[in-house]
Amino acid sequence: MVGMPEGSRVIHAENDSIYLRHHDVEAPDLHRLYENAKRDQWNVSTDIDWSQKIDLDQGFMADELIDIYDTTFWHKMNSKEKAEMNRLFSAWRLSQLMHGEHGAVLVCGQLANVLPDADTKFFMATQVMDEARHNEFFQRYMSERVGKTYDQADTGRELFDFILSDPRWYIKTIGLQLIGETFAVALFKMLADTAKDELLRYGCKKILQDEARHMGFGMLSLPQQVAQMSPEERAEVEDFTVYFLRSTLSGGFPTEAYLDMGFNKAEINEIRDLRRQKAIGGDVAMFRQLFKRDIHSTLVNNLHRCGILSETMKGKLETELRVNVSEHLNAC
Ligand SMILES: [Fe+2]
Ligand SMILES: [Fe+2]
Repeated sequence: MVGMPEGSRVIHAENDSIYLRHHDVEAPDLHRLYENAKRDQWNVSTDIDWSQKIDLDQGFMADELIDIYDTTFWHKMNSKEKAEMNRLFSAWRLSQLMHGEHGAVLVCGQLANVLPDADTKFFMATQVMDEARHNEFFQRYMSERVGKTYDQADTGRELFDFILSDPRWYIKTIGLQLIGETFAVALFKMLADTAKDELLRYGCKKILQDEARHMGFGMLSLPQQVAQMSPEERAEVEDFTVYFLRSTLSGGFPTEAYLDMGFNKAEINEIRDLRRQKAIGGDVAMFRQLFKRDIHSTLVNNLHRCGILSETMKGKLETELRVNVSEHLNAC
């Protein structure tokens, strides 16, 4: 390879590579996940019918996900403009998923080195392959159907740069399998149910099968580690988790897509305010409300199972992130 491909970045990392002498099964639950992963491999090239037609006038993701949907901005557009807005918005949102999948390939590659036993290393080898497949799916989808990609937003970039450069496996796992994948799974579920393009719905369903295993890895590997942490380490983990949950749960704002649609800065600020008000007032489509409920409930459940949901953490989630912890915890 000559030089760095345009748009790439280098993240400095010093991770241990633990070279094992023994490779016996020590954690049967994790080994079962590995067996399931081998059994359930699929192929983006042959298991997806890429020849399926798409109606470009219909768009890709549901219109209701676009912040300006059903506002005066939306009503002023003709049907061609609405379809183009849908294309640009979908391009931005799906680009973020694509970049996240690429980050997951890199983090899992590191985890295969840094994890201390064979069961976790073997599982992580399968997750590298899964994430490469997801990366491939979105790259092909964007290039063949949407025709546009955007750069990674600051929120995703910050999370991945942090966990790629921190040497501790549990920080990487909390960042990827607990924070990143809880958000991604809720989004994939919503897309699998509501996307207008049947191929996108199908691809998300296939990806979801893999993601369930990935979240399972976090749930099986983290509790023991969290239980052994000193009060200082636990406080650090709580701060890290809340910090990145705040940016991840916001989902980012597709400024570039609105700029490409021809909106000026003042209009985009207005749209941003509108989105904030809608979120606070709950004035969003039913499936967006369900998405929020789903993500909050999975998050509370997963944090609880990993042992991270201390009283301090509950307070931070309730006051800083407006997550109704007790309601979701009672339903667990
Ligand atoms: Fe993935
Ligand atoms: Fe994943």
